Amino acid sequence: MQLTVCSDYQHLSDTVADQMIALLRKKPTALICMASGSSPKGCSASFVEKLKAGEADASSFFFIGLDEWVGLPPQLPGSCAHDFETRLFQPLAMPSTRYHLFNGLANDLQQECLTMDRLIAEKGGIDLAIVGIGLNGHIGFNEPGSDPDWYSHVAALEAGTISTGQQKYFSQPVQLEKGITIGLAHLRNARQVILIANGDAKASIIKRAVQGPVHREVPASILQQWPHAAVLLDSAAAARLQQD
Ligand code: GLP
Repeated sequence: MQLTVCSDYQHLSDTVADQMIALLRKKPTALICMASGSSPKGCSASFVEKLKAGEADASSFFFIGLDEWVGLPPQLPGSCAHDFETRLFQPLAMPSTRYHLFNGLANDLQQECLTMDRLIAEKGGIDLAIVGIGLNGHIGFNEPGSDPDWYSHVAALEAGTISTGQQKYFSQPVQLEKGITIGLAHLRNARQVILIANGDAKASIIKRAVQGPVHREVPASILQQWPHAAVLLDSAAAARLQQD
């Protein structure tokens, strides 16, 4: 795992967007997987800006969403789908044939997982996954205790994940209980994984994930073992790391 500390969030966002652009220059048909939420907001905006400026071909990559809250409609502001729609699909005028998201309203969530797993296999695997980290160390909805060998699955959410989600993303009361997510096994098999974290609220969990023992109770700690993984932080999120 490679660790990079950027001076601030804008620098972090531009650095990640540059890596997305570099990938598309090499492989215009790349499969990109991304988290929603606050951490990737800046790199999504920077990526869109760079594509609009013609820095890479924007017409052929395929996008998959990392996760979704179960039971929420995709149009609801705060849902992962709504983030992707407003940050990427609308600004880039991407037709629905160019992306696939988990449907949190599906009656058969197991089928949703199988569909995602098959799609990733058909596309030849994930080229680049850009993920965030939850305050409990989760990636996507791979909550503490998740098996690193799991592919797409439905997860019962921890109380902290539910309350953070309700307060941070939704302006109206929502009932959250489960999430549907790409599994750690997909990320292990990806060609490149970038975890981004910013702000001092993330400093403690980043210390545990990056310098603590690799343990399934801190799902993101598994990135320490992956040569294809990079962690990009702003200085606030990196504040508790020990310097060698
Ligand atoms: C959420 C999502 C993750 C996200 C993480 C951090 O619960 N399930 O996909 O990466 O928590 O979110 P944020 O970047 O908003 O801090």
